[in-house]
Amino acid sequence: MIKVITYGTYDMLHYGHIRLLERAKALGDYLIVGVTSDDYDKTRGKINLQQSLMERVEAVKATGLADEIIIEEYEGQKIDDIRRLGVDIFTVGSDWEGYFDYLNEYCKVVYLPRTQGVSSSELRAEKRRLIIGTIGDGNISKKFVHEMQYVNGVDYQECTENLDNVDAVYIASHPSQHYNDVKRALKAGKHVICESPIALTFKQCSELFDLAKEKNLVLTDAIKTAYSTAYSRLLVVAKSGRIGNIISVDSVCTSLEDGASMPGADLSKKQNSICAWGPTAMLPIFQLLGDSFKSLSITSMMLDEQLNYDGFTKLDFIYDKAVASAKIAKAAKSEGELIITGTKGYIYVPAPWWKTDYFEVRFENSAENKRYFYQLDGEGIRYEIVAFARAVESGRSSLYIENSTSCAIADTIERFYNGNCTVIKREGV
Ligand code: CTP
Repeated sequence: MIKVITYGTYDMLHYGHIRLLERAKALGDYLIVGVTSDDYDKTRGKINLQQSLMERVEAVKATGLADEIIIEEYEGQKIDDIRRLGVDIFTVGSDWEGYFDYLNEYCKVVYLPRTQGVSSSELRAEKRRLIIGTIGDGNISKKFVHEMQYVNGVDYQECTENLDNVDAVYIASHPSQHYNDVKRALKAGKHVICESPIALTFKQCSELFDLAKEKNLVLTDAIKTAYSTAYSRLLVVAKSGRIGNIISVDSVCTSLEDGASMPGADLSKKQNSICAWGPTAMLPIFQLLGDSFKSLSITSMMLDEQLNYDGFTKLDFIYDKAVASAKIAKAAKSEGELIITGTKGYIYVPAPWWKTDYFEVRFENSAENKRYFYQLDGEGIRYEIVAFARAVESGRSSLYIENSTSCAIADTIERFYNGNCTVIKREGV
């Protein structure tokens, strides 16, 4: 029996794919089709597939041409598959001519002429484009617009006053304006992705989610870390029980870059530490331990009490069976790491943990330690845009940050503004 293997993404299965599979099958008696996993596609730069892995596998199955379907998950897997499955012929389309010649050492390599005039990329590009405008300027806004060019199906346009020329808006105004900006956009019928916190009180935050639901619009928090592959995997590993029960989550996020602590800095235009870093630092806490904490104590060092401008804040949460802390600062510097303590081991994410492509699971016996590496493009902003565009298209809210997490973040920040914090003195003031 001659075994043939071929690989592909098979997004929005088209005529070119079917012709390839038919000819591949005709090369032998048994056809194995390797479908690329979403993560592997990301590392290859294909980040905006229209269909999930399951949908793509189903589509290949429905052709009735594959005798066996496998998933391709990592670089170098082809050699393993060919040996393991006893493959005689490896084949792909001629767009890969020469690229897989190295496999000749293991089996015969055949390049089949590619069908002209059709490709998944073209089919993706033909779909209706989502026009996104921005409210608020500054660096983060520029980064967002820059990253949009890497995502198929979205276009940037400067918003008109009444927002009538866009389908969606990205909001990165001063946090004190988020509530009004989000409300205005939702009332105008626009989907919204907003830098966190979405609002400065729990009530306002839930009100905005209710409004979005009522109008069938997507409202989502733009914490870029939530969309990075390493972070998503870390959550899964932490929740899987590998490190036992989670006893403590401790995150640190600090930066001195925007000069908030310099003499004469105009703090009224800058974000304070709790708004700039709080949401990111709280993200793993609420996503791993939930939002039902029993108590919260807040300690801050203020740069300007009138403006509620904290240069440093420490949040300490106590849960029924765990504790958590977040240390955030724009006028102090520390090691920006994330540690998740469990009863059997711990997860360590080195600084800067909020834009990591790597984490480690560590145990008492260091021989059991495991390192995890992933690809991170565009600090996660690119994936955030893909997730947002998908949510808009499917009409389902994005699963990366639950509404309850966004509301818990707003709730914590509200407590800070309500003066529920102990103030420590600033040296020399
Ligand atoms: N293929 C083909 N003819 C086409 C398109 C694809 O023969 N018109 C072949 C490819 O050479 C490959 C297999 O189908 O062997 C799966 O290709 P895949 O990359 O999934 O499809 P594309 O349409 O090329 O996708 P994209 O545009 O995202 O690159």
